[in-house]
Amino acid sequence: MTLKGEKSVLITENDRTAVPIQRDFSSILQFKEKKSITDLDLRNKKVLVRVDFNVPLDEYGNITDSRRIRMTLPTIHYLLNENCKIILLSHLGRPDGKIKDAFRTDPIYKRLKEYLPFVNVDKADDCVGPEVERMVSKMKRGEILVLENPRFHPNEKKCDPEFSKQLSDLADVYVTDAFATAHRRHASTYGVCPFFKEKGYGFLMEKELKFLSNCLNKPKRPFTIILGGKKVNDKLDVIKYLLGLADAVLIGGGMAYTFLLAMGYNIGKSIRDLSKLDNIRDYLETARSYNTKIFLPRDVVVCDELDYPSEIKNVPITEIRDNHVGVDIGEETIEYYKKVLSKSSQVVWQGPLGVFERKEFENGTKEIARHLIENEIYTVIGGGDSAAAFEKFGFQDDVSFISTGGGASLEIMKGTLLPAIACLTDK
Ligand code: 3PG
Repeated sequence: MTLKGEKSVLITENDRTAVPIQRDFSSILQFKEKKSITDLDLRNKKVLVRVDFNVPLDEYGNITDSRRIRMTLPTIHYLLNENCKIILLSHLGRPDGKIKDAFRTDPIYKRLKEYLPFVNVDKADDCVGPEVERMVSKMKRGEILVLENPRFHPNEKKCDPEFSKQLSDLADVYVTDAFATAHRRHASTYGVCPFFKEKGYGFLMEKELKFLSNCLNKPKRPFTIILGGKKVNDKLDVIKYLLGLADAVLIGGGMAYTFLLAMGYNIGKSIRDLSKLDNIRDYLETARSYNTKIFLPRDVVVCDELDYPSEIKNVPITEIRDNHVGVDIGEETIEYYKKVLSKSSQVVWQGPLGVFERKEFENGTKEIARHLIENEIYTVIGGGDSAAAFEKFGFQDDVSFISTGGGASLEIMKGTLLPAIACLTDK
């Protein structure tokens, strides 16, 4: 095993030339040098709070999972106790710089009112401009104003300084609890920081950073990482940072089929990323020299058609046919993965192992989740889909920690100090 901080060599995806692998995750710990909400003088202040309330909505605009809102309530209650005027700012979806009614923050505002029945909560129709300034000037201490989606402005994603300044002019102090967006250099997550003298992170951000940085900096060994889900591209880029860090990497979900294809198996019509086949061969080769064992499914559940399957069966990976779509890990793989997990002292899980949203294809994800819980294996869940799977199975309160961030937790797994943290005030 390579020691922490030691550089080793791996082939990159683009030019396939040798580069050092990043093994040092200590930079994530720099968040401890930044001010947290309890280090800030907040008494009676006007506070701009960047949250990530990018919650899933159904076709009628109803919130289907409000975890991201619930998890920021400790920060909101703390600010209420400090007698602050609280200006809440969150993006919702990806409206591409245009005003789109489906991405208005009204459902968030309504849910907050339910959670805070004794607090005066109001909502603005924009996040900057004279009307917003007027509403802020009328706020009393202990009140909350929910702003409209900053992504209605193209300047949010461009991190435009003028737009950032307009946002910062609304308040005296800046607090960020938006872990799930902390990897984005947007105006409201990053651009505002230079305009505030006092800025720090909230309780949700602190919790997220503590859990993930402990897992990566001081892993309890054996350390196993489960990688699944359908966003194959993002996760494949993370694997090279995990070689030498994790003792075992279990591959499932959409990720598995690109691996199987790279190894020469027929994967039928299953999800794949053809641009990464060479990388996968490199990872498999390199993993051996770093004592990281990569495990692949031995069998999978396939169907002929995802929406209306006439055939669903469990097949060995050698028997996937041209018309098959892989939808879950198979029975043998579940038992095989359980054995690896039983020996693990710590697990980080990113991405479900099958199409868990469908009852017929949830078994792999559910059985592995149940196994981790029943055996009390320390487990940190990253990514919106894995979190949704735990919620669906009713397991959300039985696991060590479920992160609210997908992309952000993947960035942390590369050893990156997230930009929205790096720009906060030093202690
Ligand atoms: C997320 O859901 O991962 C965050 O809210 C970030 O959203 P984004 O990927 O659209 O920036």
